[in-house]
Parts: sequence; C-alpha cells; structure tokens
Amino acid sequence: MPIEFHPESGVFFLHSAHMTYAMRIHEFGCLCHLYWGPPLRSQPLDFLLPIRPRAFSPNPAGAPQDFSLNDFPLEYPVYGNSDFRSPALEVRDPSEGSRIVDLRYLSHSIEPGKPGLQGLPATFAANEDSTTLRVRLRDQKLGLTVELLYTVFQDTPALARSATLIHEGSTPLEIKKALSSSVDFSSACENFDFVHLSGNWIRERNISVSPLHPGTQSVESRRGTSSHQHNPFYALAESGASEEHGRVFGFNLVYSGNFIAAVELDEDGRPRAQIGLNPFDFTWRLSPGESFQTPEAILVFSNEGLGGMSRSFHRLYRDHLCRSTFQHRHRPVLLNSWEGTYFDFDAEKLVRIAADAKELGIELFVLDDGWFGHRNAADCSLGDWTVDRRKIPKGLTDLARRINGEGVEFGLWFEPEMVSPDSDLYRQHPDWCLHVAGRPRTEGRAQLILDYSRHEVWEEIYRQIAVLLREAPITYVKWDMNRHLTELSSAALPPERQQEVAHRYVLGLYAMLDRFLEEFPHVLIEGCSGGGGRYDPGMLYYMPQIWTSDNSDAIARLKIQFGTSLAYPLSTMAAHVSIVPNHQVNRTTPFRTRGTVALTGAFGYELDLQLLTEEEKLEVRRQISFFHEMEPLLHSGDLYRLLSPFTGNAAAWMVVSRDRKEALVSYVNILAEPNPATRFLPLRGLDPELHYSINNETHRPGDGLMQIGLPLPFIMDDFTSSQWLLRAL
Ligand code: GLA
Repeated sequence: MPIEFHPESGVFFLHSAHMTYAMRIHEFGCLCHLYWGPPLRSQPLDFLLPIRPRAFSPNPAGAPQDFSLNDFPLEYPVYGNSDFRSPALEVRDPSEGSRIVDLRYLSHSIEPGKPGLQGLPATFAANEDSTTLRVRLRDQKLGLTVELLYTVFQDTPALARSATLIHEGSTPLEIKKALSSSVDFSSACENFDFVHLSGNWIRERNISVSPLHPGTQSVESRRGTSSHQHNPFYALAESGASEEHGRVFGFNLVYSGNFIAAVELDEDGRPRAQIGLNPFDFTWRLSPGESFQTPEAILVFSNEGLGGMSRSFHRLYRDHLCRSTFQHRHRPVLLNSWEGTYFDFDAEKLVRIAADAKELGIELFVLDDGWFGHRNAADCSLGDWTVDRRKIPKGLTDLARRINGEGVEFGLWFEPEMVSPDSDLYRQHPDWCLHVAGRPRTEGRAQLILDYSRHEVWEEIYRQIAVLLREAPITYVKWDMNRHLTELSSAALPPERQQEVAHRYVLGLYAMLDRFLEEFPHVLIEGCSGGGGRYDPGMLYYMPQIWTSDNSDAIARLKIQFGTSLAYPLSTMAAHVSIVPNHQVNRTTPFRTRGTVALTGAFGYELDLQLLTEEEKLEVRRQISFFHEMEPLLHSGDLYRLLSPFTGNAAAWMVVSRDRKEALVSYVNILAEPNPATRFLPLRGLDPELHYSINNETHRPGDGLMQIGLPLPFIMDDFTSSQWLLRAL
C-alpha cells in the first residue's frame, strides 16, 4: 500500500519508490511530522514526539504542561499559540484584527492518482503510478479549512505537496502567508549543508553550499519572477554528502513568481524546511465561499548524494511535469538569428540564412527579436505584434513558407508580457501596464510590464499572437521576458487587493499559457527570460526547454549547466554553439568544445553561418548527426556529474541509458597545465558485469571503468574537450 493509515495510532505512512514519509494526528489535534527518509516499515514512532515540560515552551489552552507546539515537529505550523518558529500559514481576521490560527485535524481521505491544481501548473501521474492523501485541518473560529495534499509516486522517491485554503466562515479574511510545504525534521541536523542556486544575468544558478547554523537561512525572489538571482530550489545535504553518497533532501517549487525557500534551525538544532509563495508584499483577501490554492512543492529524498537527488528530479520532471507534446519527442536542431544578425536583417537575408542552415543539416530557423512594429533596437514596439513590412515586405506567412521551401521549419520570438512606451498598444491603453497612479513608471530595457492580472490584457496579446500562429506555418515560439516587476499595482483592482497583484500576474500568465497549449499543441515553446531568469518547474510544465542563459560561452556554461542540472533535466536546457570571440565574455574556445558543451542540452546554433570556415562547417555536420544519434540517450538517460567546474580545472559528466548498455562521457579541460600528471576519470552508473566498447576503438569491463576510470588525455591547450561513447558488447 503506497499510503497506509493506522486508525489506532493516527499514523500515516506514505511510501514512494525508495522513500517513506510518516505523520501522525496527535490527540491535541495537530498534524505532526514523524519521519522522512529511506523506506521504513510501519512501526511505532511515538518516541519522536517530545513530551516533556520545558521552560519557555508554553502550553496551548487545554494541553498538559509537558506539551508545547514549540517543541513539536509539525506539518503545517501556524502562529500565535505556542510555536515561535516560522509559520507556514498566517491569516488576519480584519473584523477583529486577530492573527491567531489554530488548526486541528478534521478528516482525511486517500485516493488513487494525482489531482491537478486549479489555475496552477503541477505534476501529474496516472492512477496506477501515484496515490494522494488529503488531510483536512480546520480553524473552527475562522471557519477556515486547510486541505493538505500529499502525492507519492510509484517510480520516484518524491512527494508532491500543496495546500488549499477553503473559507467557510462569514467575514473576509486576509491571507498574509500560505506556504506550500513545511517539514520539521524530528531530530537535530546541525551538520547538514544548505545547498542552493544563485547568480545573476549571464551567470545563473551557480551552486552555493553553506553549513546550517542556528537561525534562518533563505533564498527568495521579490522580482516578480523566479529570477536569475535565486532559484526556487534548495537541498539539505548531510555534511560530507558527495555526488553519489549521503542523505540529501531536495525542495523545489512549481512556481514562476516571488518565492521563499527557507530553513530555520531551531534551538535544538532541528531544521524547519519551508518553501512557497513569498509572503513579502503579499496579502490575499479571501471572501466567504472562496478558496485559495498554493503552488505545488516537490520534495525528493536521496540516499545517493546530490547525484541521486538530481536523477530523481529529472525523471519526475520528464515523466510527470512537462505537459508539452514535445517532452518525449525529437527536438529540432535549430539556428537562432540573435547573435548572428541582431536587428540587422530583411526577408532576403533570412531566406539565405535558412538555405545555408539546411545545407548543414539544421532543421529549424528561429527569427529572434526585431521582426515586428518598427523595432531596430530594444526601445520600441513591444505590444504591437504585427510584422515590420520594411524588413519583411510580404509578411510573415510568406516568409515562413519561403523558409519552409528551403527545407527548414520556422520559429518566432515574442515577448508577450511587455509593452514599450513607444508602441500603439501603450498609446491606446496607458493603464494596461503595472503602475501606481500619480507616480513615475520605472522602465527596464526601455519597457514596461503588462498587467497580466487583468484578463483583457493578456487576452489582447493572445489574440495578436494567435492570428499569426493560425496563419503562418510556425512550429516553434521563443517566449521571452526581459525585465523584473516594479510598481506592482493594477488599475483594475481596489486598494485592498493591490498586494495580490504579483501572484495574480503569474496566474494570468499561466492562464494564457494554458490556452496556448490547448490551441497550439504542435508548437514547441522555448522559455526565456534574459536567458535563464525564469528557469523553474512552473515554466517547464508548459515548455519542455528554456534558454539556459544569455551566456553562450562554453566555459561559462559549464558552471551554469552544472548548477541547473541539480534540479532540471538536460533535455530542458537549451544550449547553442556560438561564434568566437564570444559575445558575452570575449573568450575564444575551440569549435569542438562549444559543441561538446551544447550537445548536452536542447541543441542548436546561434551565429552567422557565413563566418564559418569549411572545416567548421564539416564539424557542424558531424555535431548534428552525433546529436541525432545521441538524443534518445541524452534526453532520457541518467546524469552523473563526475568533475565539478566549481571545484577544479575541469568538468566531466556522463549520461547512462536506463538499461546501462550505453553511455556518453563528456570532459572539458579548462586551462592547460604544464607537464600534467597522468589522470584517470572514474565513471559511474555502468553495469560492473558488462564489457563496454569505447568509441569503437577499444573495450573494457564496467567494473574497471568505474573503479579505475578512463585515462584522461595529456592536454596542451586551454579549453579542450573529449567525448567517449560506451556501448555494451
Ligand atoms: C533576451 C534573450 C535573448 C534575445 C534577446 C532579444 O536577451 O535572452 O536570447 O532573444 O532578448 O532582444
């Protein structure tokens, strides 16, 4: 039984593959956390709940002196009656000014399958692959029911959690904070590390590790999107945990806006690990009869270090998150026009580029920014999604057909959430952007943000885009978003609802994407936000790939892609070979290395093909045919990170097929070393009993490849790379 309930003790055991999570309904009425870790048979775990009198641990009314919520591991903690740690839920009753919430167990039910969440992206799974527990807790005085959802998966050590607040009382309430998940570890974890992903534009998702210490450690976004700066992901890793060993608990939020991810180590060294909507600048008014749905949190347990955690996230997201019909389909090798032409193109040039692309084996040509309005620089026309006839005189449909005629598919760039002050849309509807009446409007990249909390706003943009997609043969859309949210106010909402705007914006975006997927399931969407500024599971639900970073330099990408892979599958990371010297960091790397690094993700090119030498063109052909051969392995196999660019002068990773019969190992040496030592690269994830051919040149047994490794080449140049393809004999 994936979910067991023992009525005599009130204990739930939730079993996913290789993982158990246990909770108990306490006599006092609270839902307590008992256990999360490797599989555990059902057994008494009461000793995990501390019952003892303690100074400065008050006792809620009706409870004995040896019981305090402050000492108890709780599943959805509230504030005001004896727990002083960070609550998961804060509600204000404006009729009284009270902020007390007292949640007691009401009922529960267990059902097969995985319910969707109203208006929000969430994991999905068939009835035979998943089981869901609903626990209802109630605050009698407020008339508020909190329904906690827990889904376990047959095939992955993961748990999906969310909360629905259902208001059955008689006066409106203000939700100040409603997290998706809160886990109180039952025993001290002082020697754990807090692992998270932080950075900035063109250096997203660098791995940061710091030891847990008393008090709170957190990352968050207050930028309206999940952001380049932080990611709604973190892990608690047993200190000394490596890529392959040690206990690791991973947390990820299926959401694309303001989030908080925090861990508080209490006075006894026990972590409270939380993730959810950021309470910063948030208040949601809930009227009687209404409900509020939190986003979904994904919790993953690994007994096999960070690598095990990543492989579980990857499998879950590939099989149970991404809704796109392209999730398990071939991703066309594309050429994106941005770094090749920027704003300087016309129809004839584009058709020529498409013809050159076809020659080399490229399957899709993507026309990036600059094709609409009168846009020759990033300073106008966002919001006016009509073709610029000066550049493309016969219109998009004609252009797309001509490009198809050259033998490649056609894709197009949009930035649907923005408006330029210099645009017809803005001149007609100056109140359609986020702004505060009577105050100046902050611009970023000379643009303002459309108020997606309003239906009519995103529906107008949808209308404009849909007209084009219905007419022209467009099979790919790059969905960009190039600034963060300021003056978060909506002209359409009353004053008391203005702190709902950040969340309503994200809900509007999701509603538009839902409609898009329904009408255009044949269109592959690639997400982008100044590169990787909105790389989160919320977006991955709608789009199977995201432009990982505006940084296309192969060496800078090592860290970005390594960090991203902590939570997100390789198939989601769009990666392109670009020209040298690189446009972001001015570095010159070998063409082959640029291919090695880009081949790991959703593969493509972003350069002026005319600048390539004949030798480079040959290499392009080789890379594309290699990608075709490797794509099934790369996009469905298990990733093993072998050498980290964060800690050494090289990066190495390998992808192993699920049956362990095939593997591709990639190695990039960063700087050349004088007189280098002889080094071996031990592999992972192979079958020790099997014999593997290596690049069809030699062969060796799996155990030797893992225990000793592959001999690394003596490298005389900077930025060189090698790949080895292993096949079981
Ligand atoms: C953003 C994207 C780029 C490109 C430009 C176009 O920066 O991340 O890939 O599309 O916008 O303006």
